[in-house]
Amino acid sequence: MSEVSLIIGASGGIGRELVSQLAENGDKVIAVSRSGFADDKWPENVTSVTCDSNEESQIAEVVKKLKSDDQTVRLAVCTVGMLHGEVDGVDVQPEKQLEALNEKQLSAYFSVNTIIPSLWVKHLVNVMSDRAVLACLSARVGSISDNRLGGWYGYRASKAALNMMIKTAAIEYGRRAKGTALVCYHPGTVDTALSEPFQANVKPEKLFTPEFTVSQLLKITRDLNPKEGPYYLDWDGEAINW
Ligand SMILES: NC(=O)c1ccc[n+]([C@@H]2O[C@H](COP(=O)([O-])OP(=O)(O)OC[C@H]3O[C@@H](n4cnc5c(N)ncnc54)[C@H](OP(=O)(O)O)[C@@H]3O)[C@@H](O)[C@H]2O)c1
Repeated sequence: MSEVSLIIGASGGIGRELVSQLAENGDKVIAVSRSGFADDKWPENVTSVTCDSNEESQIAEVVKKLKSDDQTVRLAVCTVGMLHGEVDGVDVQPEKQLEALNEKQLSAYFSVNTIIPSLWVKHLVNVMSDRAVLACLSARVGSISDNRLGGWYGYRASKAALNMMIKTAAIEYGRRAKGTALVCYHPGTVDTALSEPFQANVKPEKLFTPEFTVSQLLKITRDLNPKEGPYYLDWDGEAINW
């Protein structure tokens, strides 16, 4: 039996940096992405796995392989998420007003931001280590109580729904995977493709590098107590109101 760290959405700005820092720490890392990093040279302790999380059967295959290799997961981070861009031919842009709401775009938000991470949480319940952390990248704008600005309907609602999935799953994990702390994590505004079109009004000191946000995430999630979760935390380790 060996322990691994699993990064889902490993080719994204935050995901790639997670793989890099965990590998540097000496972890055995499984880096899951749609692309499979064909051209990347990772150190020997990184295994790159091609998986399109839009197909649940592919998620199930990855977890089945962990089991058959006698591996348990010490840390799983699902970074999968989307704010803008093309999803199945739909050009998704965050809505500024009600008139911008449309069914295809809302479906795309929920599909990527809520359903994919939830399916990973479903499949991982049987392969977590006795003491483990399962973090999903959420966002502060998914807080229902903290919503003062409005806008970004689909992104906000899909992250709020993700938070509810994690809160609900934590109750079942409490019976079936007692040693796993579940976390909804807000990384701050991070300089990646996801935030790039929306960085103009962000103060330079509030726009984090992937290096900074990942070192914070790894530090903050290291010693979480499963009994006190689920957690909804920001990049500074502060609790966010749900
Ligand atoms: N950057 C920020 O300022 C910020 C702020 C708050 C929250 N977050 C959250 O942090 C997470 C990571 O964001 P990031 O900044 O690293 O963004 P990113 O560079 O755009 O990476 C997004 C990741 O999501 C996956 N993904 C995107 N669209 C997908 C689709 N249609 N189907 C399946 N997978 C898809 C990609 O996985 P593959 O590796 O498989 O391509 C990619 O790794 C997201 O959940 C985001 O909502 C980011």
